[in-house]
Amino acid sequence: MFGGEFGAAGAEVVIEEFMTGEEASFFILTDGTHALPIGTAQDHKRVGDGDTGPNTGGMGAYSPALVLSDTIAQRAMDEIVLPTIREMARRGTPYQGVLYAGLMIENGQGRLVEYNARFGDPECQVLMMRLGAQALDLLLACAEGRLDQARVNWADDHALTVVMAAKGYPGPYSKGSIIRGLDALPETSSQMVFHAGTTERDGQITATGGRVLNVTARGATLAEAQAKAYAMVDAIDWPEGFCRRDIGWRAL
Ligand code: GLY
Repeated sequence: MFGGEFGAAGAEVVIEEFMTGEEASFFILTDGTHALPIGTAQDHKRVGDGDTGPNTGGMGAYSPALVLSDTIAQRAMDEIVLPTIREMARRGTPYQGVLYAGLMIENGQGRLVEYNARFGDPECQVLMMRLGAQALDLLLACAEGRLDQARVNWADDHALTVVMAAKGYPGPYSKGSIIRGLDALPETSSQMVFHAGTTERDGQITATGGRVLNVTARGATLAEAQAKAYAMVDAIDWPEGFCRRDIGWRAL
């Protein structure tokens, strides 16, 4: 970093408290006045099994994040999220959209690590699988200032996504390899492959990015969602790709 690896972005260094615990993501829609929690998730940032190797944008995720209990979520709403929304409105800069609160959970309490004004990747994929078509109604209610009338209908289920990345990621990787086997995979409300870095060339799907596919499944238990997702991964023929084999391990 001090050798200039990050260019101008490395010119200033901020030293912050090291927070211990388990990190989980809490998603809330707000129309500027009202707030509606729409789910929790946990991702796996390290590239290797057992959370080893360099950081990535996320190698897989699951929802709900069991570590973020209803009690912790309610307290985070009351003590972190709602005061933020009220203060934004008081300043004349109301925030409307999705709030992604990154929480560090320790001793039954969540502390705010960061806010993102977006859905996470790959957290979004597991949230959307669980919300299904109602996601559109919720986003519309958010945009039209009607969130106080909106409700989330939760299925009591779990979703898990496995990221398939190009070998070499998060370092240098090559593009253009052909991915086979996708056509035979199910595309239903409980099993879906989301494309993040592909393009179709001469009728074949080719890899064009680092994180390339999100192989996603729902199940009555997290173990079932995991088994279904990895069964789909194993049906994909892409020798130039790789994935972690332990997505969900903390909760399992
Ligand atoms: N997966 C982490 C993020 O989207 O920030």
